[in-house]
Amino acid sequence: MVLSLIIATIMEQWGLIQQKLCPFVKIIMLDLTGKNALVTGIANNRSIAWGIAQQLHKAGANLAVTYLPDEKGRFEKKVRDVVEPINPSLILPCNVQNEDQVEATFKAIGDTWGKLDIVIHCLAFADKEGLGGDFSSISREAFSQSLEISTFSLGNLAKYAKPLMTEGGSIVTLTYLGGVKVIPNYNLMGVAKAGLEMSVRYLASELGPDQIRVNAISAGPIRTLASSAVGGILEMIRHVEAVAPLKRTVTQLEVGNTAAFLCSDLASGITGQVIYVDAGYEIMGMG
Ligand SMILES: NC(=O)c1ccc[n+]([C@@H]2O[C@H](COP(=O)([O-])OP(=O)(O)OC[C@H]3O[C@@H](n4cnc5c(N)ncnc54)[C@H](O)[C@@H]3O)[C@@H](O)[C@H]2O)c1
Repeated sequence: MVLSLIIATIMEQWGLIQQKLCPFVKIIMLDLTGKNALVTGIANNRSIAWGIAQQLHKAGANLAVTYLPDEKGRFEKKVRDVVEPINPSLILPCNVQNEDQVEATFKAIGDTWGKLDIVIHCLAFADKEGLGGDFSSISREAFSQSLEISTFSLGNLAKYAKPLMTEGGSIVTLTYLGGVKVIPNYNLMGVAKAGLEMSVRYLASELGPDQIRVNAISAGPIRTLASSAVGGILEMIRHVEAVAPLKRTVTQLEVGNTAAFLCSDLASGITGQVIYVDAGYEIMGMG
């Protein structure tokens, strides 16, 4: 109690000193209090979306989360268990290939909150045949399915979010270096991510006049359900640990911190960007 009082006093004094030293700079804290956030893509406690949801919650945002429904309800149960500590206002089924479910998600958000401030698009899919093997052998069906889920869905979520983002907003998606450079086994997902990164720019341009910002985080390799489907994730992580300036890869929570920043007023001037959260790996010329 005494210790926390001392710390609070020191913090207050430090704030006053900073204001005196730099009276023209307004000190803004990362605060998402009163912001309503939709987080898609939580599958389990390793999901990057879970790292993001935790950091948005910590910053004060109200949360709605979606899960990919399956017949036996196993994903729903898993996601409900994982998100229990942050007690989201809404937990909704949303397969982005199902237009009715997408529409129902945003209807529920509109009915509950009236307005939306943040959308986290943190999902992707590619059939096994699209990850590894010859790129030229990927079937039409696998190609279309992957791009529909991983790429088209961003613009489609934005379409429904736009009328609810009446006070501006922030949309953040997740991408990977494999959308810019050739990474072993990433194949089809590389094309999906290239399209996703370009979608970010076109959406940022379209939605900017409404003060809706759209950005992507390009995360370094993290062991998750999705990344385990890409062959060699452990080798990728070991490679990054050896080569990246920080000599390690990143965590879900570090990605979550950057997402919280991008959704906050601290990032009010940033849109249409791909921000690398990869321990610096992307800058290295020789691996
Ligand atoms: N893990 C990494 O190394 C890494 C690196 C960079 C970018 N990313 C990206 O991060 C995002 C999240 O992936 P993750 O690594 O946390 O894995 P994850 O498996 O935890 O998350 C992927 C999510 O996509 C969802 N999904 C798949 N098909 C869907 C559909 N039709 N409708 C709705 N949801 C669907 C899954 O239910 C799951 O929640 C993905 O876009 C991924 O490409 C991951």
